[in-house]
Amino acid sequence: MTSLEKGRFYIFREDKMALQTIKGTYDVYGDRLRQAEMVETLFKHFMDLYGYTMMRTPIIENRDVFYDKSDTSDMVTKEMYSFSLNSKDYITLRPEGTRGVVRSLIEHKLYSLEMPIKLSYIGSMFRHERPQKGRQREFTQLGVENFGEKNPLVDAEVIAMGYFYLKTLGVDDIVVYLNTLGDEASRSQYSKALESYFKSYEEDLCEDCKRRLSLNPLRILDCKIDGAKDFVLNAPKMQDYLSEESKVYFEKVLKALDELGVPYKVNDRLVRGLDYYTDTVFEVVSLNEASGSQSTIFGGGRYDKLVEKMGGPKLSGIGFAIGEERLLILMEALGLLDDETRALDAYIINMLEDDPYALKVAEVLRHNGFMVKLNYYKRSMKSQFKSADREKAKFVIIIAESEKAKNEISIKDQSTALQESVKLEDLCAYLDEKFKGENEDA
Ligand code: HAM
Repeated sequence: MTSLEKGRFYIFREDKMALQTIKGTYDVYGDRLRQAEMVETLFKHFMDLYGYTMMRTPIIENRDVFYDKSDTSDMVTKEMYSFSLNSKDYITLRPEGTRGVVRSLIEHKLYSLEMPIKLSYIGSMFRHERPQKGRQREFTQLGVENFGEKNPLVDAEVIAMGYFYLKTLGVDDIVVYLNTLGDEASRSQYSKALESYFKSYEEDLCEDCKRRLSLNPLRILDCKIDGAKDFVLNAPKMQDYLSEESKVYFEKVLKALDELGVPYKVNDRLVRGLDYYTDTVFEVVSLNEASGSQSTIFGGGRYDKLVEKMGGPKLSGIGFAIGEERLLILMEALGLLDDETRALDAYIINMLEDDPYALKVAEVLRHNGFMVKLNYYKRSMKSQFKSADREKAKFVIIIAESEKAKNEISIKDQSTALQESVKLEDLCAYLDEKFKGENEDA
């Protein structure tokens, strides 16, 4: 029965494009993957140091986890990959980590744990943006979320953790920008002031901002189209609408950062691209020209209403997410990434045919912690030596009939050209001794 007879009809794209990566997505392998794993390993170490628990949430979630009718962000209104298999239930490829973590916190009542609850994650996010350097459709975030304690010290600790993580990686071409969006009452007053101010410029606003005007006029301040226009630059300032409490809170965050030695700049125009933020918001921006227009390495802030809005208890939250690919672009520009794949400890030149002996020797070495490759098929010794050179092997081990008969191998140190015969049972001890010498010299 054909697929047509079964009532299903598949349209196959026969052009070449159908077999290539989708625009804005990339295959990652070799050195780049190793470098990505290196920054992830340090991130996990930081999570241990600061008492965060790593978590994995699904990449696909019900659309309502991310979708909110009142949300005016580009991410929610334009960039989500959502689909339905039955025209009823919509599924979304997660565009960010925070809301998935909040969904999980509520679903599993994680809020019954000791506060603050500190969760972190590493994973792919998906946004249908226009791809360019540092802006992908699938990208990786290293994120943290800290729930249940609204305290300026928590804000400072979260920001400091991200900053010191970058410092530990050697990244120093960065600025930490900070702002406060104030508490609910301050923000609501400020929103009203902005709305009436922008009303007189309605004609000059882009289509998105016209919509934002009544829903969330704060977002006009960082609009990619309108943000630089004079009337936006001259708009009322948040500072003039902050309650005394919000001002004091923010000052305490700044004081704690001073104490911790985290340099920052207050930027009263920073509102962030997502709608759920309250109070403290921050972004760490690269000054390096290699980062181009996508210079925000990480961003985050408080979201004290989100858990409740998503159906959970009243619970404050703060977090950030680092864009891994942007971080690697910056580290590369700063010369912080080495692309030397670890050289092989030994390459086995195998002159035996249809004989697993060389493979057995390789396994013994691997079980003792040596990185080993070997030749599997009939080739001249010369071409196998060439392979050993290409692999930058530190030692070459030669196995032929005569060696096997004597239960020996010949081993050549590539740096000195010294070649010796070693009993098989002494091989690991021999290499241990050689590498010990090497480590002591270094
Ligand atoms: P976000 O600012 O949308 O915040 O993203 C955080 C970081 O992810 C950005 O600073 C950037 O480095 C990276 N990023 C975002 N979009 C792309 C893209 N298309 N290509 C490459 N990298 C990208 C959030 O997602 C919030 N969930 C952060 C947060 C956590 N706030 C509180 N907790």
